[in-house]
Amino acid sequence: MKISLATTLSFLILALASNSLLVLGTSSVPEPLLDVHGNKVESTLQYYIVSAIWGAGGGGVSLHGGRNGYCPLDVIQLPSDMQNGIELTLSPYNNSTIVRESTDLNLRFSVLLSGRDYCNEQPLWKVDNYDAASGKWFITTGGLDGHPGAETLLNWFKLEKIGNFPGIYKIVHCPSVCESCVKLCHNVGRSFEDGVRRLVLVRDDEPAFPVVFIPATERSTSV
Ligand SMILES: *[C@@H]1O[C@H](CO)[C@@H](O)[C@H](O)[C@H]1NC(C)=O
Ligand SMILES: *[C@@H]1O[C@H](CO)[C@@H](O)[C@H](O)[C@H]1NC(C)=O
Repeated sequence: MKISLATTLSFLILALASNSLLVLGTSSVPEPLLDVHGNKVESTLQYYIVSAIWGAGGGGVSLHGGRNGYCPLDVIQLPSDMQNGIELTLSPYNNSTIVRESTDLNLRFSVLLSGRDYCNEQPLWKVDNYDAASGKWFITTGGLDGHPGAETLLNWFKLEKIGNFPGIYKIVHCPSVCESCVKLCHNVGRSFEDGVRRLVLVRDDEPAFPVVFIPATERSTSV
């Protein structure tokens, strides 16, 4: 009698536990990314990625000559909070229009690289090869659009909320587009190299780069 009660109870607990797991599972669609106005970030629009900290926090992200020759261009942060940088698009791996947190994205600058700035590469962010001289993984350009999988592993970035601040995010490279791949999983931070704030992968004990999204073109229906 006692045993059967215990058995019944454990079944009940198991049922409850799996039920709550089920609830967690169904409600785990990540939250939409929000811009500085509280609007949902969309893959069809262009945004500036700018420091969430005004003043000494610096400005927006832009392109700068690489470390070994001019091309490929590296992703940097401009020093002044008056500079929003170059606008870009965020494209989720599954072509969804609504851009969500914790979802693999391509980050692509909306520039035509021409004249002096011409590099024969797409202005699509990717993690560069390990730089043994500095011990760093820089964020550079030249990635290939889309094609989620092993061959594009270094081209994917996610945005994760920082604490409970709405609209403030950190950029993370921790791709989910290839389950069987050995991969890097780090926050994106900044590193001063020759007076330039280059974006790099950072250790967990180093600060991530807190960012906000400023729409490059205001919507006609904006409040
Ligand atoms: C996303 O779009 C690309 C290009 O049109 C296509 O090749 C790919 O299959 C699409 N992926 C999904 C998940 O719909
Ligand atoms: C993309 O994935 C999200 C969940 O991460 C889902 O809500 C959305 O419907 C998907 N979009 C497409 C076009 O498959």
